[in-house]
Parts: sequence; structure tokens; C-alpha cells
Amino acid sequence: MTFGTSSSWPPFPTLVVGLAFGLQPLAHSADVGKAKGQQLAHDVYKGNCLACHRIPGDPSAVSLADIGPPLLQMRERFPDRAALRSQLWDPTARNPQTVMPPFGKHKVLSEDEIDLIVDYIYQY
Ligand code: HEC
Repeated sequence: MTFGTSSSWPPFPTLVVGLAFGLQPLAHSADVGKAKGQQLAHDVYKGNCLACHRIPGDPSAVSLADIGPPLLQMRERFPDRAALRSQLWDPTARNPQTVMPPFGKHKVLSEDEIDLIVDYIYQY
């Protein structure tokens, strides 16, 4: 076997990539869930929460929005996590006039996606 030509370097790219992905299970699954929730919340084609809310606890949540209240102190404001979840599932239950989309009721987000976003904002 020779490794003299440029096309043979790196010799085992799949091994290198495989090792990098192999390290992922070391990350805590709860952190992975929060990261997925963050991605869904920021994605303009998914939650798009930053169109209306700032999330001051998350430095990567770049937004000047003030249509809804800033999402902070979620645990204090929603000691019952289910109440926070239902605010995402159908905010019109609490306020029929709200402009916040009923993400669950209108199937904008799946049940799992809503849970992941709740995991994400519940840490702030
Ligand atoms: C189109 C604007 C809009 C979008 C998009 C939006 N919201 Fe809202 N949200 C609001 C408004 C306005 C309120 C204020 C409550 C009301 O209108 O009844 C609110 C209220 C809330 C509340 C209650 C806050 C409190 O302390 O009472 C939470 C939690 C919340 N939104 C989370 C989210 C999350 C998470 C997303 C993304 C999945 C999101 N919102 C997307 C407009 C929006």
C-alpha cells in the first residue's frame, strides 16, 4: 500500500469523520435536547420566536423584538411546566386575541418540537 499521491491523503477520511461523530454521545442528552430546541426556536421556518421575543439569557438569540414579552425567568413565571407548554401549544386559550401563533393546535410544530423548545426556554 502506498500513500505517496495527493489523492491518498488523508488516508482514512471516513475514519477521521467517524471519530468526530463518535465523540458526540459524550455530550449529555439533555444538553442535546436544549440545543435542538434552541435551533427550532430560532429557525424562521419553525418557531421563529425571535420575531416577537427577545431571550436575554441566550447570547446567540439576536433579536430586538418587543411584540411579546422577553422570555426570561420562565421557571418563576411558569412554575407549572405544563402551563408553559400549553402557552406554546395554543396561546389563544389564555388570550383569544393574541398574535402568537397556536404552534401545536395548528400543527406548525410537532409535539416533540414543542417539548424541545420548552426544554430550551425553561433554562432561562
Ligand atoms: C407573532 C409574534 C409571536 C411569535 C412568533 C411568538 N410569540 Fe410568544 N407571545 C407573543 C405575544 C404578543 C405574547 C403576549 C401574550 C399574549 O399575547 O397573550 C406572547 C407570549 C408568550 C409567552 C408567555 C410569556 C409570559 O410571561 O406570559 C411565552 C412563554 C411565549 N410567548 C413563548 C414563545 C415561544 C417559545 C415562541 C416560539 C416558538 C413564541 N412565543 C413565538 C407573540 C409571539
